Amino acid sequence: MKKIKLDISRATDMTNIMKYAKKVQDIHNKMESYESLGNEFLGWKDLPNNIDIHDIKKMELIANQLHQNKIEVLVVIGIGGSYLGVKAGIDFILGNLPTPQERKMEVIFAGESLSSTDLAQKLKYVENKKFAINVISKSGTTTEPAIAFRMFKKLLEDTIGKNNAKDYIIATTDANKGSLFQLANDNGYKKFVIPDNIGGRFSVLTPVGLFPFACVGLNIKKMISGAKLANEDYSIGSLEDNLAYQYAVTRFLLWKERGFVSEMIVAYEPNVNFFLEWWKQLFGESEGKLNKGLLPHSAIFSTDLHSLGQFIQEGSKVLFETVITVKKPIIDLEIVDDKDNLDNLNYLINRSVHEINNVAFQATLDAHSSIGQVPNIHIELPELNEESFGAIVMFFERAVSMSAYLLEVNPFNQPGVEVYKSNMFRIMKKPS
Ligand code: PA5
Repeated sequence: MKKIKLDISRATDMTNIMKYAKKVQDIHNKMESYESLGNEFLGWKDLPNNIDIHDIKKMELIANQLHQNKIEVLVVIGIGGSYLGVKAGIDFILGNLPTPQERKMEVIFAGESLSSTDLAQKLKYVENKKFAINVISKSGTTTEPAIAFRMFKKLLEDTIGKNNAKDYIIATTDANKGSLFQLANDNGYKKFVIPDNIGGRFSVLTPVGLFPFACVGLNIKKMISGAKLANEDYSIGSLEDNLAYQYAVTRFLLWKERGFVSEMIVAYEPNVNFFLEWWKQLFGESEGKLNKGLLPHSAIFSTDLHSLGQFIQEGSKVLFETVITVKKPIIDLEIVDDKDNLDNLNYLINRSVHEINNVAFQATLDAHSSIGQVPNIHIELPELNEESFGAIVMFFERAVSMSAYLLEVNPFNQPGVEVYKSNMFRIMKKPS
């Protein structure tokens, strides 16, 4: 498998980051011996080695049953870590159009907002289609997915009857507790477990992501093997040899020593847009505590060069960029010949669109980094496939943990998110 590449030379240099080698090694050792803050949620670290083949087979089996029963749409209900990684993975590998031919089943997402319009339109969308529901919630008590699930469940039961509906509802939740766990048990839904030692935003390579991935036809075994191989490289304590730790230290230095307050992650492939959303949750919820952390922000280039480009080039010097490019596109296209040449584009004949995308990257790198003095970190992915997805997930999960520990915050809790939730329950007078 080709590896992920990292270039930090436009942000700092190795001599500078190596000042942190001992600190990184110490943090790493504490993580490895499960003595670090939040150590009960370090399960993601060894996940690719610990996945049970029986679980994989069960996911593939249920996905196959849905295919055989000609299910057209899988409604994935969840929010935050129970949603972003799923959409990230599907778009990353298959693109973000609803039903390209390679997809075994369409997937739509619900329960990721409280918009009545959005929910009503999605209910309407599946009304005359054969659909199944995968409801995902680790706590099993989150309001947004709980409301959406109630509505989709009613629609399904009204359409095919309560007894049949249970065969088309799959719950992914805690092993022992929560309302969803209870509901699934009482109604005999099929169940997948989110391990106790893996937090929501670290859960994409558990059944949270793997089951919907199997439903659309992705090869989840390849994804796990990509994660496993990459994990070998990111499980070493030496900063000199660990790219995930080098990335973590570089961004930490840019914050601590040079005062940057925001990291803008950028990709040149729209397919990667939701992966950037996943990354925002991963870094935002893991680091943003005790008045510390970088504001995670994202953009798709060259699209957003036509909206945010001006600010990045000449606006307040608050951010640095982390740019993700892809070596080999899923599909490439050659610029077609046009004998009239009224658009004057014939000078590009025989060049591919991907080549021109790369030129945009090089030109922007020079504009932002050399001329605009915006520090730049560059990550190159070999391809947009299952292995690469597994690998880049492990890269960032490892990096964010190191990064949060460098900030001396617990990477695995999110106490701030609870504030709005308990306010809502108080305002709605939820019975205790
Ligand atoms: O990272 C987290 O743990 C959170 O962002 C959760 O993913 C999110 O709040 C959804 O929670 P749950 O899966 O319990 O419904």
